[in-house]
Amino acid sequence: MGESIFCFRKCRLGKIMGCIQLLLGSLVIIVSLSSLLRFYSAGFFMHDEDICRHFYGVSDVYDHFDIIALTSRVDEVLNKMDTLQDKIELIVQEMEKNKDQLHRSGISKLEYKRFLEEEVIKPLYSAHIALRQIRLPRVENMTIKEDPLINTFVIEEIRKYITLKENRHKKVNIYGTEGIYNTIGHACVSMKKELEEYMDYDIGSYCKDDWNIAQKLMINGCDPLPRRRCLTRASKQYQKPYPINESLWRIPDGRNVRWNNYLCRNYECLSSKNPKRGYTKCSGCFEMDKEELKWVANASLPVDFMIKDVLRIKSGEIRIGLDFGIGTGTFAARMREQNVTIISTALNLGAPFSETIALRGLIPLYVTLNQRLPFFDNTMDLIHTSGLMDGWIDLQLLDFILFDWDRVLRPGGLLWIDRFFCNRKDLDDYMYMFLQFRYKKHKWAISPKSNDEVYLSALLEKPPRAL
Ligand SMILES: *[C@@H]1O[C@H](CO)[C@@H](O)[C@H](O)[C@H]1NC(C)=O
Ligand SMILES: *[C@@H]1O[C@H](CO)[C@@H](O)[C@H](O)[C@H]1NC(C)=O
Ligand SMILES: *[C@@H]1O[C@H](CO)[C@@H](O)[C@H](O)[C@H]1NC(C)=O
Ligand SMILES: *[C@@H]1O[C@H](CO)[C@@H](O)[C@H](O)[C@H]1NC(C)=O
Repeated sequence: MGESIFCFRKCRLGKIMGCIQLLLGSLVIIVSLSSLLRFYSAGFFMHDEDICRHFYGVSDVYDHFDIIALTSRVDEVLNKMDTLQDKIELIVQEMEKNKDQLHRSGISKLEYKRFLEEEVIKPLYSAHIALRQIRLPRVENMTIKEDPLINTFVIEEIRKYITLKENRHKKVNIYGTEGIYNTIGHACVSMKKELEEYMDYDIGSYCKDDWNIAQKLMINGCDPLPRRRCLTRASKQYQKPYPINESLWRIPDGRNVRWNNYLCRNYECLSSKNPKRGYTKCSGCFEMDKEELKWVANASLPVDFMIKDVLRIKSGEIRIGLDFGIGTGTFAARMREQNVTIISTALNLGAPFSETIALRGLIPLYVTLNQRLPFFDNTMDLIHTSGLMDGWIDLQLLDFILFDWDRVLRPGGLLWIDRFFCNRKDLDDYMYMFLQFRYKKHKWAISPKSNDEVYLSALLEKPPRAL
């Protein structure tokens, strides 16, 4: 403020007042532009429910319309204009006080230009842009249509992503729709700041090495994440993977992994003996001598079923399946030797699980627990799960997950729950969950894990459902 008053010392008051009037005039134009959006500005003086009644007299008008997001965006613009007006008024008052001084001195054209640019045009411009960004819904037959969430986000790249992409020439596409929606998880709204950081890049340039931010967003419910238009970085010394006859049971070449966002910088460091390995689940699963014993060596506990015993139940019938858990793909590797194709879910929780599975020559599926599985109904021969859904899981969430697995399993398909563990007192609840589908029980075993925890393993078969 002090500086801008200083610039005006040398100016004649009359001229200045003229200029200010001009500026305030253009402000008024903008304000009236915004009040054209009568619908929105009214939101400041009425309760949300009143808005629609006031304008439309019907209650179902704003069903698909994010009035809260829009209100906050308009708020933002009005605040900006308020601040600008206050500021300019203050300057004028100051000048009024120093009238005499102003009469004696003039203002240079350059100072005047700088003042206009810095103090007036810039803030006006940003208010203008913010107003432009508010996308108005179309009103069709008294129902309002807008792109969902569009007014929630300011970053242009997010807005472009979530906008409906209509087919060219108004054609209907192979899906029979007139356009394609890119989708994002609804929790992206509550992680706006992180999402904006993630989507802040130059189109076509190299992305930041920020898969960990992406994963954090996904795990917290911003899932699916928007796609990005930047180039993913790869390891500087990427080597070709080992041939398939070697890769299955060999720790991959560490140079093929970008280690920047892990605590460890190489595979040796991921050893279970290292207390600073950076991950807790499935410790030891980066040591092949331990992995080679799983599901084949004689069981130490009754809850450990052998692959050969499980496959014998449905000899030759088990061909494809899903391993839902956390690990380095050993289950899929063993099954591959039995000519069974298994897709392994993998999140990089502190260690390069996805990369490792892929480098072993197996398929990692980068999914969270949040989402419906990307498989069609009645398709999988087997779902194996271990190590992920232990006693922490909310019962309702577990219910949704189990029903989804049931959907995906084919009739006669096997659900193999492997070493699920929970507190002894919760066991009844979980048992009820697993048994509610009335699957045929091939194997069922419970053994103590510690004083108050128990392991549960089960091999269940989905019955036919001829309805
Ligand atoms: C509006 O509704 C009428 C009848 O309910 C329908 O004939 C007309 O096509 C609709 N218009 C639009 C734009 O949906
Ligand atoms: C893997 O196969 C290649 C040729 O396909 C062969 O040269 C190599 O010795 C094999 N490795 C092992 C461990 O069998
Ligand atoms: C597993 O145990 C059985 C007898 O219980 C034995 O015959 C077999 O050799 C053992 N297999 C391994 C791999 O240790
Ligand atoms: C897997 O398939 C190959 C080629 O068809 C066959 O030679 C092999 O015996 C099969 N392995 C098993 C365990 O069935």
